[in-house]
Amino acid sequence: MRIMDSVKLPEIIQGGMGVAVSNWTLARAVASAGQLGVVSSTGIDTVFIRRLQDGDPGRHMRLALDHFPLPEISERILKKYFREEGRAEGEPYKCAPMGSVEGSREWEELLMAANFAEVFLAKLGHARSVGINLLEKIQIPTLPSLYGAVLAGVDYVLMGAGIPRAIPGVLDRLSSGAEALLKLDVKGASENILSRFNPSRYFPDHLPELKRPRFLGIITSHVLAQTLATKADGYVDGFVVEGPTAGGHNAPPRGALLLDDKGEPIYGPRDEPDIAKIRDLGRPFWMAGSYGTPEGLALAKDMGAAGVQVGTAFAFCNESGMRPDAKSSIIESCRKGISRVFTDVRASPTGFPFKVFDLEGTMSEESEYKERRRVCDLGYLRHVFKKEDGSLGYRCPAEPVDAYVRKGGDIADTEGRKCLCNGLLATIGLGQKRKSGDEKPIVTVGDRVAETIQAIAGERSSYSAADVINHIRAKVCGQPKAEKQEQAASTATILHDARC
Ligand SMILES: Cc1cc2nc3c(=O)[nH]c(=O)nc-3n(C[C@H](O)[C@H](O)[C@H](O)COP(=O)(O)O)c2cc1C
Repeated sequence: MRIMDSVKLPEIIQGGMGVAVSNWTLARAVASAGQLGVVSSTGIDTVFIRRLQDGDPGRHMRLALDHFPLPEISERILKKYFREEGRAEGEPYKCAPMGSVEGSREWEELLMAANFAEVFLAKLGHARSVGINLLEKIQIPTLPSLYGAVLAGVDYVLMGAGIPRAIPGVLDRLSSGAEALLKLDVKGASENILSRFNPSRYFPDHLPELKRPRFLGIITSHVLAQTLATKADGYVDGFVVEGPTAGGHNAPPRGALLLDDKGEPIYGPRDEPDIAKIRDLGRPFWMAGSYGTPEGLALAKDMGAAGVQVGTAFAFCNESGMRPDAKSSIIESCRKGISRVFTDVRASPTGFPFKVFDLEGTMSEESEYKERRRVCDLGYLRHVFKKEDGSLGYRCPAEPVDAYVRKGGDIADTEGRKCLCNGLLATIGLGQKRKSGDEKPIVTVGDRVAETIQAIAGERSSYSAADVINHIRAKVCGQPKAEKQEQAASTATILHDARC
């Protein structure tokens, strides 16, 4: 049995927050401050090509492409997407090809390069660990994305929103250069439908030597932890135990879905994981979901955890990818004690509850939701199904209703669904421009956002990732160590680091 006891474990994992709220800048700042910085892989191919179409200010994407070990792919991507002058005012972004089970070489190449770039940049200028977060429910891009991240030397892979049983084995195979297979969830299929990725297709003569990253499963129950520990294909190195107050998607309550009078899911004692059973598995674990406080870290350690995973507190710090105007209005309203977070069981096309912060001008408003003409042009959350003729089809409950129903979907599934793909890209300032109206953001946060921001920001209107770390670690270290480490790391510029 492998236990990570020889490895210094982070006390704080900065949670992977899609789409690119946990970008390379945030992960790099957190890693430089001595904790685990995590980038989000979700939709990163689109983020990457939109940054290129916006002229790649700072030259970071091109720097990463210069280091990508397959230069002909870098060239093709630059030729297709890079715009030196950026886009003209109001010009829509060019989209990446949509994913399919059969896969296209072009999309596979883009996924590898985009995931490589995000990890490569997060690792620049320090020697600390960096992780990448993927959602189990988004399966088609998984293999090339993981390979790109492994090529960049990613240290941890974290995955939740499903049961990622196959992923530890996939990491074993990809890092040793072997072909990896992933069974896909396909509605109506009786046979196994697989996604495949073979590194030797890209490195026919000489496979690069790669390190197998550690794998942490994000789980909500001890049963899931036990399943992963005993039945996963390959070794699971640890767990993040996430409760239903966490930002982003939440696991639905166990048993029948009951809603309170506001329409939010009711969680009960059955949803509380038995921490003793998780501890008995003998692998490190981190607690998540309103644990981003000094008391949260102390409580987690008392439970036997290595530390905590924190999202909400980092989502609004200076280094995160969220639009600065959204950050400031949320910080301001939280400081005034005005915040409303709604756990929406209808919004996400995944069918999982999704927390939404009530913010003017975003998709939390009924009027904005109704005004948006439904369009599905990114497709990450589409479900794959088997058609009557045996071929595969793709549909998303947030796509135009008639199209969804034409593809055999139930009209009831479409009610209240929001296009998280386009909404979350707008949240980081990369929303699509359309004649029918520009895409509007959607902001997800944890239930305790107001208290969290008040405790960290105090009288200030902004704060840094180091402030978050210092706040959480206040009781254990008593001095602002993270700040010192971060300052030291940032004295060298990124471009200088890259040359060294
Ligand atoms: C803006 C935001 C986006 C998130 N996106 C993801 C995601 O894409 N994948 C994931 O596993 N968790 C996601 N999460 C959850 C975080 O990684 C983390 O586990 C959680 O935020 C911890 O609880 P807290 O929000 O109370 O700190 C997200 C959280 C936030 C606030």
